[in-house]
Amino acid sequence: MAELSGRRLVLGVTGGIAAYKAAELARLLVKAGAEVHVVLTAAGAQFVTPVTFQALTGNPAWSDPWDARMPSNMAHIDLSRGADAIVVAPASADFLAKLAHGLADDLLSTLCLARDCPLIVAPAMNRQMWQNPATQRNKSQLLQDGVTILGPAAGEQACGETGPGRMLEAAEIHDALAGFFQPKVLAGRRVLLTAGPTFEALDTVRGLTNLSSGKMGFALARAARDAGAQVTLVSGPVAQPTPAGVTRIDVTSALEMHAAVMQRADACDIFIGVAAVADYRPQERANDKLKKDDKPLQVALAPNPDILAEVAARPQPPFCVGFAAESRDLERYAEGKRQKKKLALVVGNLVQDGLGGDGNAVILFDERGRHPLGPAPKLDIARGIVAHIGQMLAGKEE
Ligand code: C5P
Repeated sequence: MAELSGRRLVLGVTGGIAAYKAAELARLLVKAGAEVHVVLTAAGAQFVTPVTFQALTGNPAWSDPWDARMPSNMAHIDLSRGADAIVVAPASADFLAKLAHGLADDLLSTLCLARDCPLIVAPAMNRQMWQNPATQRNKSQLLQDGVTILGPAAGEQACGETGPGRMLEAAEIHDALAGFFQPKVLAGRRVLLTAGPTFEALDTVRGLTNLSSGKMGFALARAARDAGAQVTLVSGPVAQPTPAGVTRIDVTSALEMHAAVMQRADACDIFIGVAAVADYRPQERANDKLKKDDKPLQVALAPNPDILAEVAARPQPPFCVGFAAESRDLERYAEGKRQKKKLALVVGNLVQDGLGGDGNAVILFDERGRHPLGPAPKLDIARGIVAHIGQMLAGKEE
């Protein structure tokens, strides 16, 4: 979970009610291993005091450029020296305007102007302030200047209005920062994934399904996005939140998943089949709820199409990755599957190690052999798989 281990971050807090979320953000960043130095504007310090941030980060929190505790009178350089990024959350409309124009009339704006590291801002303001042409102009200028803008989200606002301008939640900013520092090994690639189980209806309320939670597929979607890919995720019925920036298509049955994938297979460079697609579906779906009686019920099952094998068999297939969840003889079955389905890579795991849980231990099988990964949390495993795919693709292009 120490995703930001060794990172030195300056967290800027400007004036806005969302400043209370900055305290939680500071806590999450420290928990993720980052060294966090907080700098508040005068308005920011009206909402949350430096003492709170000092306690959360274990470092002095700064606001006044003339603070006598500063180790030197070059605070604007000292604080950001060696920083991996400056993160301003919340960033008020006023602060965005200052950044867009290069103003430097307090400690935080001076630090931003004097930096030699990436600048990431999470705007927070009333919806009319956000939609005002002046703020939109400043936003475009900042994007042009290479500043990363996270959010804002739309929703209920502290002022009682509803619309765009809410700061992202602390956990979302934490996730975005963890992603920001990932190597962009899939930059410009289009990735299509399947995830979760499928549900094969028997009647109007019952069906056949399995215990797949979708966690591994969703972690891979996030890891691919963090590696710079444009990601489309076709998901069976799961209770997972969609990673920001990922296009999600919800399906229920294997036939729906098949149709959703086939429509998009030509427009992807990499296809990863993570879904636990049901091998069979009831041949007939009753239009009413089936009534019970004392006799055994016979259900005829029809085989479902193998989505992954079909994508891999296309005339110009994308780079295809499959999963092999086995309960025994992992090596033999996984490598057999790779060859039979003509896949570049198979991720093999023992079902007892991964299904439904938060962690996994896998072995990657490719034409060069076997590469074990984990045991580790599913997101770490996903990042390892993405790194391996990136290496294989880079090798192919040499
Ligand atoms: O053959 P088996 O089901 O074990 O293969 C698993 C791999 O194939 C997974 O990557 C899974 O997503 C994919 N698959 C599929 N369509 C099916 C069955 C499996 O895409 N009908």
